[in-house]
Amino acid sequence: MKPTIGVRVPATTANLGSGFDALGLALTLYNEVYFTEDDGSAVRVEIEGLGKESIPDGFADNMVGKAMVRAAAVNGGKLPKSGILHLVNRIPVARGLGSSSAALVGGIILGNVLTGNGMDRQAMLNLANEMEGHPDNVVPAFCGGLCMSVLDGGNPVTQRVPLGKAAFFITVSPSLEVSTERARAVLPQTLPYKDGVFNVSRVAFLVTAFINKQYDNIRYGLEDRLHMPYRLPLIPGGERALQAAVEAGALGATVSGSGSTVIAFATDHEEDIRKAMETAFSDAGFTSAGHILKACNEGAKRI
Ligand code: HSE
Repeated sequence: MKPTIGVRVPATTANLGSGFDALGLALTLYNEVYFTEDDGSAVRVEIEGLGKESIPDGFADNMVGKAMVRAAAVNGGKLPKSGILHLVNRIPVARGLGSSSAALVGGIILGNVLTGNGMDRQAMLNLANEMEGHPDNVVPAFCGGLCMSVLDGGNPVTQRVPLGKAAFFITVSPSLEVSTERARAVLPQTLPYKDGVFNVSRVAFLVTAFINKQYDNIRYGLEDRLHMPYRLPLIPGGERALQAAVEAGALGATVSGSGSTVIAFATDHEEDIRKAMETAFSDAGFTSAGHILKACNEGAKRI
């Protein structure tokens, strides 16, 4: 029996308000993927934790499996014909916390290791970005920290800032799926020039507030006119959850990625904030799962 290869990948929150499609932050909530080669006749997928009912458990259809196949193709190598792909899922599925990016990143790293490690980190990032379509989740999932990405020739180039331990990131994921496709379909084709200026100033402000640890200023950087006004109506209880978080002591709150998770930023009152956001969703008729997290500064790693 060959040794098991394991990879741990963090959840991520994309956009952070004003940084639409550009900013992403890795969080201390993790999925794990394991591959153990054996002498059978096929690769079997085992799913533990979230998404057992909804995630495809056929190797060819599963996102981790697809990423392994793509990584093997880049390396010109062959994956083992038989083994167990075991997934441990803790990141809420399809809720705007980077579950699909975690699957892609975990699969690419596994596939790369199993077929000769031909890709360096940038090559793996390029493949993950190509498969996901946006850099803002896959980059922090790989690299950790707060990541600012631009695309050069379609490939991500990133600036990364590790965050301190004082900030809490409180996520509450309601029992409501908002697909990224739908959340992108509601965005307008054009925007007023002043809305562009509004966001440029705020995203610069947000990043420097984090760098300077001036957390009281984060709320300005979370303000957004590119996507939030169009998307919040897709999340019943969402607007109330954001208000409730601030009333309970958060420094600010926004939608995580394309939703439906909401995320609050705080340096204290974290339990009260979680409860306040959960109550907003229960008042709107949804159950929800809350997590009190910190920034994960190290990104995906072999375990
Ligand atoms: N930046 C993306 C969006 C994140 O908000 O649509 C989801 O992939």
